[in-house]
Amino acid sequence: MRHDLVQRTTGWERFNHWLLALSFIVLVLTGFGFLYNSLNWLNTIFGGNQLAKEIHKWAGVVFTLSVLFTLGSYLGDSIRFTKEDYQWLSSLGGYLSKTTTEPPQGRLNAGQKLYYLLVVVLTGAVIIITGFILWFAQSTGWLRFGHFLHNLAFVVFVTTVPLHIYLSTAANPGTFRAMTRGTVTRAWVKRHHRKWAKEIGIE
Ligand code: HEM
Repeated sequence: MRHDLVQRTTGWERFNHWLLALSFIVLVLTGFGFLYNSLNWLNTIFGGNQLAKEIHKWAGVVFTLSVLFTLGSYLGDSIRFTKEDYQWLSSLGGYLSKTTTEPPQGRLNAGQKLYYLLVVVLTGAVIIITGFILWFAQSTGWLRFGHFLHNLAFVVFVTTVPLHIYLSTAANPGTFRAMTRGTVTRAWVKRHHRKWAKEIGIE
């Protein structure tokens, strides 16, 4: 490995991340096809309504496993909030100001921790549980309840994931390679995760 690079993710973490993203894209495309009559044409890509439903269910199983696998990589760090995380939140990571610099952060910043806990774990649990309710329930009451929460969680995902993609690519150059090559530069670590830089001895 080049001496100016730092390992950010393992091969397994990257594989699982792209499994999560791919299953998510299939779920979103088929989901939009079911939700709106005007978008029903989307399901023709997946071989028509009936096949699209089967693909949606099995992509849901892949998504479920993939969310479970993320617990090992991110839950431990995400549930530990430190004083630096509160500093990050009170300045929103410096994103809304030209003068504020990012407060020192550990391996994950406070925004990543909240995205993981609130979107991936909490909303993920709601969409997964209600997905299985819609798959197996028979009574109208359960189906109505399932539909309501499944759609609500869907809205949370389709509004927040684009933000995650923007922040991990265009907004913060040098981040995307963490999920392709697995490495980031030392300069990137010092800039975005100064506390982590100290922990791994590069400062
Ligand atoms: C397809 C578009 C996506 C792109 C380009 C993308 C990009 C990235 C990048 C570059 C990172 C590494 C950030 C870092 O190391 O600081 C990351 C991390 C992560 N991604 Fe994605 N991602 C995508 C989709 C998703 C989806 C659909 C989910 C969940 C439903 C997701 C969940 C996560 C989680 C939990 C992490 C680790 C914590 C974090 O950095 O927030 N990603 N992603």
